[in-house]
Amino acid sequence: MKLIVAVIRPDRLNEVLEALYRAEVRGLTVTRVLGHGGETDRVETYRGTTVKMELQEKVRIEIGVSEPFVDATVRAILSGAHTGEVGDGKVFVLDVGQVHRIRTGERDENAVTPRPLTEV
Ligand SMILES: Nc1ncnc2c1ncn2[C@@H]1O[C@H](COP(=O)(O)OP(=O)(O)O)[C@@H](O)[C@H]1O
Ligand SMILES: [Mg+2]
Repeated sequence: MKLIVAVIRPDRLNEVLEALYRAEVRGLTVTRVLGHGGETDRVETYRGTTVKMELQEKVRIEIGVSEPFVDATVRAILSGAHTGEVGDGKVFVLDVGQVHRIRTGERDENAVTPRPLTEV
């Protein structure tokens, strides 16, 4: 299992959600966040040069998926979030040790986006 964490432009969220839906990915968390892309913004002040980090509004998406869904999930995010301009964001893929579905007690692959029907 993986936890896919993406930071994207807020105005690309609907495109990403549609692409995820088409990829049959279900179950995700969306949070409004502030981010900085790493560029150093130098600002001249009366005391000399200082560094200012401008924070941009971004959206963070977290999706727990079973292995067969990892590639399709990443592709859906890349296609939905891409503009080609600086600030499109990042996708991180993290290994996950355990997942528990609280309602049923189901674990791991049974608790996240399931295998494709063809593999059941
Ligand atoms: N190394 C990083 N770790 C965590 N979040 C990051 C990292 N790099 C970028 N981000 C997030 O992604 C957003 C957009 O990334 P940015 O670096 O501006 O895009 P680009 O790669 O096009 O320059 C940032 O505002 C920040 O929220
Ligand atoms: Mg950057």
